[in-house]
Formats: sequence, C-alpha cells, structure tokens
Amino acid sequence: MEESVNFVKGYGKIDPSDDNTTAVHRQSPSPNRRKTITIAVTVTLLLFAIIIAVTIAATTVHHRRTKPSQSPSIKSSESIKAVCAVTQHPDTCFTDVISVNSGNNAVNPVAIFNLTLQLAVTELTNVSSLPKTLISNSNDLRTGSALRDCANLFDDAVSQLSRSVESMRGESVLTVEKVGDLKTWISAAMTDQETCVDGLEEMGSTAVDEVKMKVQRSSVCMSNSLAILSHMDEILEKFGMHLH
Ligand SMILES: *[C@@H]1O[C@H](CO)[C@@H](O)[C@H](O)[C@H]1NC(C)=O
Ligand SMILES: *[C@@H]1O[C@H](CO)[C@@H](O)[C@H](O)[C@H]1NC(C)=O
Repeated sequence: MEESVNFVKGYGKIDPSDDNTTAVHRQSPSPNRRKTITIAVTVTLLLFAIIIAVTIAATTVHHRRTKPSQSPSIKSSESIKAVCAVTQHPDTCFTDVISVNSGNNAVNPVAIFNLTLQLAVTELTNVSSLPKTLISNSNDLRTGSALRDCANLFDDAVSQLSRSVESMRGESVLTVEKVGDLKTWISAAMTDQETCVDGLEEMGSTAVDEVKMKVQRSSVCMSNSLAILSHMDEILEKFGMHLH
C-alpha cells in the first residue's frame, strides 16, 4: 500500500521538476497531435485490415459451405441444360433427365447421356409388350400378322438398347468407336419402332393410332440420346473434354 502511494507520489514529483519534459511540452504541442494523428491512422488501417480479413474469411467459409451442398446441383442442372440443348426436344430432355438424376450429381456429359439412355430403356420396355397385348385382343388376321412383326421388332429394339446399356457399364469416358456403336444400336431400335408403325399402317390396322401414341415417348427419348451422341464432340469441347 505504502509503496504504491510512494511510487505515485514520486512519479508525480518527478514530472514537473523534469525540465526536459516540460520544455518539450512548452515548445511544441505538435508531438501530441502527431501522436494523435498516428494513432488515428493506425486505427483506421487496422480497421481496414480487419474488414478485409473478415471479408476474405467470410467468402472462404461461404465457398466451403456451399460447395458440397448447393454447387453440384446447380452445376448439374446447368450441364444437363447444355447437353439437352442439342436435342430436338430440349425441354423434355431436361425435365426427364432431372427426374432420374438422383443425388443431383450428373455433371459429366457422358453421365448425362447415360441418363437419357436409361430413360429410353425404361420407356421402350414399357411399350414393348404392347404388340403382344394387342394380338391377344384382336381377331383380325391381317392386323394379327402385322402385330406379330411388331412383337419381333420390339424384342429386337429392346435387345439393341440393352446392348447399349451394357456397353456403358463402368465406362466414364467415351471412345470414337463406342459412340459409333451406340449410334448404330440406338438407331436400329428407333428403326424397329418405325418399321412396326409403317407395317400396321400398310395393313390398315385399327391399332395403328394407339401404337403410334404409345411409342411416342420412347421415340423422343431415343432421339434425344442419338442427338447427344451425334454432338458429343462439340458437347465435350464445351466442357473442356474430348473423345478418346
Ligand atoms: C450408366 O448407368 C448405368 C446404370 O443404368 C451404370 O451402371 C453405369 O455405370 C453408368 N455409366 C456411366 C458412364 O455413368
Ligand atoms: C408406361 O406406359 C403407360 C402408358 O402406356 C403410362 O401410363 C405409364 O406411366 C408408363 N410407365 C412408365 C414407367 O413410363
């Protein structure tokens, strides 16, 4: 207690008697001002530094947070849009692919093509039993033979698409040769469907309108897959990729 009091007293005593300090105080008050200015500048700079640091930190955290959750789905839908743009039915293509894009993670054009192929298989398989169903409901002999042709054509179409799906298993890159094979197989499946409809029309079958209507979905899906394959070169280029 006493020590601290003495210390304060002593310090107070020293100050006025110290000529040097007094002289400095009297002669120029500017060092004090300069001090104030220096402190103000330092504080301002510090504030700027803090604001910049906080901004950078916030941006980094924002990026880190949004990357795993938001970014892939936005990126994925943008990629799907870009790939579907080359098709004759870009809107249908986009909506269909989005609906089977589980996990919203298809970004690569090859994976997106794969999804259109998956859709085509689903739709074709769904209509492939139609000729057989119509045969059992019909007793018109001429229509019957055309429908039997259709049944064979649909079986062939399904096997062409199955072959395409099989060839995509475990593949993450496309070769020029693979694109050629896929185009051949999917075109063959499309031709099968068209040949069926043409045959029914030729025979004047009453089933033709129903078949035409029901194969429409699978035709659109196959045509989307084919269009994507036909433009695969330029699509990959847009993504900074290329055919192998
Ligand atoms: C394509 O989809 C099938 C499932 O339909 C999957 O087994 C295969 O790995 C996929 N390939 C690519 C390249 O995404
Ligand atoms: C199959 O086709 C029928 C119409 O023929 C349709 O109502 C149904 O939704 C289709 N199913 C699938 C999985 O596409």
